[in-house]
Amino acid sequence: MFPKALPVLIAAAVFAIAVAARSRLESRDDKHCGTSICVYGRVHGKEVTYTMMKKEDRTDERLGWIAMGFGLTMVEYPSVPMIVAWSYKNQTIISQRTAIDYDNVSVVEKPPFPLRLSNESYTHGNQSRIAFTIPWDGKKRVKIIYAFSNKGPKTSNSSAEIVDYQHNDYGRLSFDLEQA
Ligand SMILES: *[C@@H]1O[C@H](CO)[C@@H](O)[C@H](O)[C@H]1NC(C)=O
Ligand SMILES: *[C@@H]1O[C@H](CO)[C@@H](O)[C@H](O)[C@H]1NC(C)=O
Ligand SMILES: *[C@@H]1O[C@H](CO)[C@@H](O)[C@H](O)[C@H]1NC(C)=O
Ligand SMILES: *[C@@H]1O[C@H](CO)[C@@H](O)[C@H](O)[C@H]1NC(C)=O
Ligand SMILES: *[C@@H]1O[C@H](CO)[C@@H](O)[C@H](O)[C@H]1NC(C)=O
Repeated sequence: MFPKALPVLIAAAVFAIAVAARSRLESRDDKHCGTSICVYGRVHGKEVTYTMMKKEDRTDERLGWIAMGFGLTMVEYPSVPMIVAWSYKNQTIISQRTAIDYDNVSVVEKPPFPLRLSNESYTHGNQSRIAFTIPWDGKKRVKIIYAFSNKGPKTSNSSAEIVDYQHNDYGRLSFDLEQA
């Protein structure tokens, strides 16, 4: 069924394209950006592709992990689906998670939706652009939470424990999806 590990290795050419695309995205207005990361969503057919990236002025910080979740707070009932990504040897590792509590973001055994990592994704050192595609629920406006940490798993194991890694930053965003 749904593979737990979705690591991809992105070539240098893709990196150059992605950097160019990022400059274009970052010139847009601030509703897509929190204090540390920006998130964009683009609908195409029955799917939506989300892109999250560290802000230009935070790219020197070590990338531990970067995350977003569909909800208003990290710990909620019903649980908030979260997507956590990090880099291992410049591979992008992505994982669907949920928070047990504020200290433990655990792997979801049965992810609430299928997710595939887009080939627009890259992580190179501390630089990152994570793009993934999931089914679209038909709602144009999305409310998400985001977080970023400069400590994180040093492994390609997408089920690696993420515990006691303090966020360096977190927040909420609310924006409209774009139509492709
Ligand atoms: C990542 O950030 C850390 C901490 O700021 C820095 O020491 C390191 O050189 C950076 N690495 C890269 C590849 O930019
Ligand atoms: C985190 O939650 C998972 C799933 O409930 C549990 O197996 C694990 O022991 C927890 N880890 C810590 C450090 O609390
Ligand atoms: C990503 O995949 C799509 C569809 O397969 C392809 O059209 C596109 O050229 C690819 N982009 C990159 C940067 O590899
Ligand atoms: C990862 O990417 C960074 C920045 O492009 C580069 O300096 C580093 O050598 C790469 N590391 C590996 C293990 O390929
Ligand atoms: C991946 O990490 C999880 C959680 O620590 C562990 O249970 C599992 O055995 C690891 N898988 C591999 C292939 O190392």
